Amino acid sequence: MEKKDIDWGNLGFGYVSTDYRYVSNYKAGAWDGGQLTQDANIVLNECAGVLQYAQTVFEGLKAYTTEDGHIVTFRPDLNAERMEKSAARLEMPVFPCDRFVKAVSEVVAANAAYVPPYGSGATLYVRPYMFGSNPVIGVKPADEYQFRIFCTPVGPYFKGGAKPLTIRVSDFDRAAPHGTGHIKAGLNYAMSLHAIVTAHEEGYDENMYLDPSTRTKVEETGGANFLFVTKDGKVVTPKSDSILPSITRRSLVHVAKEYLGLAVEEREVFLDEVKDFAECGLCGTAAVISPVGKIVDHGREICLPSGMEEMGPVTRKLYDTLTGIQMGRIQAPEGWIHVIL
Ligand code: PLP
Ligand code: COI
Repeated sequence: MEKKDIDWGNLGFGYVSTDYRYVSNYKAGAWDGGQLTQDANIVLNECAGVLQYAQTVFEGLKAYTTEDGHIVTFRPDLNAERMEKSAARLEMPVFPCDRFVKAVSEVVAANAAYVPPYGSGATLYVRPYMFGSNPVIGVKPADEYQFRIFCTPVGPYFKGGAKPLTIRVSDFDRAAPHGTGHIKAGLNYAMSLHAIVTAHEEGYDENMYLDPSTRTKVEETGGANFLFVTKDGKVVTPKSDSILPSITRRSLVHVAKEYLGLAVEEREVFLDEVKDFAECGLCGTAAVISPVGKIVDHGREICLPSGMEEMGPVTRKLYDTLTGIQMGRIQAPEGWIHVIL
C-alpha cells in the first residue's frame, strides 16, 4: 500500500482529513449496522441535542506502525469501556465495546495510507465520538444519536516535542466534586478553553488544575494526567474521582511496576509537596509523556530538578518502555496490542 505524500516528521497536532470515517446512527432504540463513508461533513437540525445542551462524548487513541511493519492500536478495549461510562453519565445509549473495537479497526485499515511510517515520530490519532442528533428544546436527552470515528495523522501534542513544559496553577476549576471530570465529555473541554487561551497568552503551555473543594490537591491538566517521580525514584500519581482515568497513566503504572521494578503510589498529591519531587510529566494519548520543567503557582516558581532541557531519567525510561511496547520493540503485556493489518 502506497503511503500518502505527507511530511510526517513535521506534523503538528492538527486535523488532516483522511479518506474514510465510520458512522453509525441510533434511532428508535437501536444502532444501525454502521458503515464507512467518505463524507467528512455532518448535516444536523438546528435544534440537535448536541448543539443545544452539549450532549456529546468522545475518545482518543492512536494507531502505530510497528518495527516489523504491522499497523496496531493500543488497548482500544479500554477506550470502548471508558466511552460506555461517559455515555451512561450523559444519558446516551452505549455503543457496544466489541463494535467500537471493530469500527476502530475498520476505519484505521481503510486509512492505512495515512498511518505514519515506523520511526517517523508521527502516529495516526483516532477520534471516536457520539452526539445527540435530533431536535431537543426542553432540557432532556436526545432520542437519536450518531457515533462516528475519524482519523488524522499527528505529530507531538506540545510544540517542541520532548522539551520540558512550563505550566501554571490555574485559578479556574476543571471539574466539580461529583461532576463530570471522570468522563470524556466535550463539556469538560469547552470550559477549559478560556483557561488554556489565557495560559498561552501568559506564556504557559498548560494549566495544572487543583481539586475545587479545597484547592490544595493536584488533579490534572486540560488534556493529561500527572505523573511525578520522587527523589528516591518512586512514581507518584494523583488519585481523584474527578480526573479522567487515563489509559496511558494506567499503562505507565503497570510499566513502572512490572517492567522497571519501580515503586508506585496512586494517592492524593498535595500542591505543597510538588516542590519536593524530582520529575514531573503529563501523560495521555496525545501527550504520551511530556516532561514538565517548571510549575508556576501565582508567581512562585517550582523548578523541577530535571531541568528545562530534557526529560528526567525515570520519565525517559517510562517513555522509552511505553513507546517501545506500542511500536513493537518491547514485548507487550497480553491483550495490550491490537493488530489491525
Ligand atoms: N486527562 C484528560 C483531561 C484527557 O483529555 C486525556 C486524554 O485523553 C487524558 C487525561 C489522558 O487519557 P488517555 O491516556 O486515556 O489518553
Ligand atoms: C487525548 O490524549 O487523546 C486527548 O483527548 C487529549 C486532547 C486534549 C487532545
